[in-house]
Amino acid sequence: MPAVGTFRVCEPGRLPFAEAVAEAVTLPSVLVTMLSSLIEAWPRQIYTQPLVTTRFLGQRTTYVCDPGHIRSLMVDQAEALEREPFMLRALAPALGSGILTADGSHWRRQRKAATPMFRPDRVQSFVPAMARAAAATRARWLADDPAGAERDILRAMMRTTFDVIVATMVSGDPHLEVEPFGRAMDAYLGQTSWKIALEMLRAPTWVPHPGARAGAAAVRYLRGEVARTIARRRARGEPGSDLLGLLLQARDPETGQPLPEASLIDNLLTFVSAGHETTALALAWTFRVLAEHPEVERRVVAEMACLRADPAADPEAVDQLPYTRQVLLEVMRLYPPAPLIVRRTRAPVRLGDAIVPAGQSVHVPVYALHRHALLWDRPEVFDPDRFAPERAAARDRYAYLPFGAGPRVCIGMSLALTECLVILATLLPAFRLRPVTAAMPSAQFRVTLRPKGGLTMRVAPRHVA
Ligand code: HEM
Repeated sequence: MPAVGTFRVCEPGRLPFAEAVAEAVTLPSVLVTMLSSLIEAWPRQIYTQPLVTTRFLGQRTTYVCDPGHIRSLMVDQAEALEREPFMLRALAPALGSGILTADGSHWRRQRKAATPMFRPDRVQSFVPAMARAAAATRARWLADDPAGAERDILRAMMRTTFDVIVATMVSGDPHLEVEPFGRAMDAYLGQTSWKIALEMLRAPTWVPHPGARAGAAAVRYLRGEVARTIARRRARGEPGSDLLGLLLQARDPETGQPLPEASLIDNLLTFVSAGHETTALALAWTFRVLAEHPEVERRVVAEMACLRADPAADPEAVDQLPYTRQVLLEVMRLYPPAPLIVRRTRAPVRLGDAIVPAGQSVHVPVYALHRHALLWDRPEVFDPDRFAPERAAARDRYAYLPFGAGPRVCIGMSLALTECLVILATLLPAFRLRPVTAAMPSAQFRVTLRPKGGLTMRVAPRHVA
């Protein structure tokens, strides 16, 4: 099979585009690996080099794994970047041109409209809703089988975080149902690898692929559900003060017009999906990693036992969980729920001595950055003390990017961190979770980072186990 691409490595200290050919790849081998998990198709040099350029079917992609270059790219030169076509092909059928997928002034307007929802005082006001959702999960786990049972932890966390997002963003609209919503999300995300692969092969969008029909049906269901949520709100006669209310009241600064219906759907679906799936993954990975490290788990549970107040009653209680927070950050280093940030250059971009020309893909492979040999000591080892205040302060902020960076940084970052802490503080003191398979599940790229084969664990109440 002839090689169709070469991975080219830019070595530190050298002019980056005077590259050494590192590895040749063949089309079927890349395709198969990409469909299984894009991460496995990455050139392994991105774990050891600051800048790596690959050429695939004549297209160049630059992987940026140096904190200084990442800052330069995502903060200083953010204006020269736009959404990457392959991500648009994967996400736009569902999310249209909402806050996650839009660029330029269209994006700016949507970001401005949503920002008040994520101010610190607003996030604090969500804590009781987070605590209620977590308590409901705790009650379900106790009611179903008080002596303990095997559970799909990822699904359970999806349900919990979905409850939080519905409670906070659409004031608990009771008609949005988690189970069918989750199934539709799975069906949709499950076939995005095909869309990404086909875009890389520059195949037209009408080219059929496995899962396409189910994906299209999922989109119809998801967008329909969200449209009905908006219609119910309109029928109420007043917009409300939640995210949906903010979106309904947003006005175009130039025309004074409200957001068009499609834009409302794009954004509400973006927030509901981006807001619960990533957070559920962070939690699910945390439970699994803690089960591997009982001594860390003991310290976490001991910290929770010292909480002076219940998060449901005192939103500031989560500030008393510094070690649990370190654990969560370290889990998201090894298993970042959003493992890849992708952009296309609209104009030439300078990275040190290198110029990336306009129209080229630039990727920040967060999963690899978090395991990079030049940035982390023993990168594969789980060590929450990396995030102890003094060690974290000594590290370049752009070496750790679970929430991205620059103007497109995750708008829900502090909401997500608070939510994870509240949910962990509700469930961990009550239950001991143990894996049913000895090996850690491998991490699979499905736009987000999912445990391959799901995540079943045995959940037993602590006082019984
Ligand atoms: C652990 C949980 C989460 C993780 C790891 C995460 C990660 C990320 C990352 C890496 C980005 C940047 C993507 C890029 O630059 O291309 C992002 C953007 C975004 N996130 Fe999150 N996220 C989480 C939770 C949330 C929550 C709870 C919400 C909302 C309630 C949310 C809403 C968004 C939105 C709307 C964007 C697009 C922002 C923009 O482009 O202006 N995320 N997220």
